[in-house]
Amino acid sequence: MSASAAVIIPAAGSGSRMKLGHPKQFHMLAGLPILIHTIRAFLNNPNIQRCIVVVPIDWLEEARKLLSQYDISLSNVTITAGGRRRQDSVQAGLALLDDSIDVVLVHDGARPLASQDLITRCYLAACQHGAAIAAVPVKDTLKKVDSDQQITATIDRQGLWQAQTPQAAQLQLLKKAYLESGGEDVTDESSLLEKAGIPVSIVAGSETNLKITSPEDLILAERIMQNNLNPQMRIGHGFDAHRFATGKPLVLGGVTIPHTLGLAGHSDADVVTHALCDAILGALGAQDIGHHFPDSDARFAGIYSILLLEQVIEHAGKNSFCLGNADITIVCQTPRLAPHIQAMRETLAKTCRVGTHLLNVKATTTEKMGYTGREEGISCHAVVLLESRQHN
Ligand code: CTP
Ligand code: MG
Repeated sequence: MSASAAVIIPAAGSGSRMKLGHPKQFHMLAGLPILIHTIRAFLNNPNIQRCIVVVPIDWLEEARKLLSQYDISLSNVTITAGGRRRQDSVQAGLALLDDSIDVVLVHDGARPLASQDLITRCYLAACQHGAAIAAVPVKDTLKKVDSDQQITATIDRQGLWQAQTPQAAQLQLLKKAYLESGGEDVTDESSLLEKAGIPVSIVAGSETNLKITSPEDLILAERIMQNNLNPQMRIGHGFDAHRFATGKPLVLGGVTIPHTLGLAGHSDADVVTHALCDAILGALGAQDIGHHFPDSDARFAGIYSILLLEQVIEHAGKNSFCLGNADITIVCQTPRLAPHIQAMRETLAKTCRVGTHLLNVKATTTEKMGYTGREEGISCHAVVLLESRQHN
């Protein structure tokens, strides 16, 4: 059986070197708060069962709001208040872990670019060796400098490594190291383990696993995210059909089309927008439109379905996905849709926040075969590709 693991994310610092006026971990990076990127990286890792996020005491409420805003469930994430030093914050997190956890990873809230591979390797190394940290070999020549900016020595970089996080250890070893530490100032968990005589091994970290420390790190991190070293894609399919009805306007792809008949349905019965919503929800693994906007709910009676699509796109964004492209096929014997295709594309593309060229709409008849051919109604297929903005 594999060892159960928790992560403690210390995010209770003030970010004084960033000079932002607020703690850097709450600053936006590529559309999401830095801390949300960090938390998601760990929640996405199958080895991690629990997540403790340690924030400044006066940010507790804001942190809870952010989790709910970004659809992170509080069922396996606990938020708690930190202390004056980083090690005090980690200790506050440790106090919440009981013996059901075998391995604990500590990871800076301000380090949003840790890859899944790195998290897994740190976890496995701690399972095997007791304690292990991510680190990278020092690349540049090291100088010792005095307070007058004068070099006083050159230090041999042979065998020198820069410590990063995750820093992983078997829970009992880290608790022991804390108990024995006597409160001396340290800047990482490994220092405590080393002082307690516990061997700590190195896991190859990455230069892109940077800790946002000074303003230029934010620019670098943004570039790395944009480059998206490991993009994720999701495919989805949606299908919908509605029966013709009298006394209703015909709305397709958000566009009202002159016709003697409309479509029956609880909302505006926009079969095209519904198929697109279902394709996006499908790609997200988030069930279907009926689940999110039930036709038993009066709030959705007669609603303009483009408003539902707006919410679906927002849901995708909260999960770090945006629309890559969509291809839609409307199956309709009559009316003729060719004159309205461009307007539909523009309305749907604008709602999905993509260029019109990325949202294709086409229409076909079924040569009078089947229910659409007999003009009983209209059906629609949509396929989408979603792209991740996550760096994982
Ligand atoms: N941290 C913490 N509790 C503290 C101090 C730091 O939880 N009392 C966290 C930070 O929020 C950060 C990580 O430890 O996620 C690494 O610390 P650092 O990069 O030094 O962040 P800050 O202390 O916030 O920044 P600065 O040193 O520039 O003030
Ligand atoms: Mg600090």
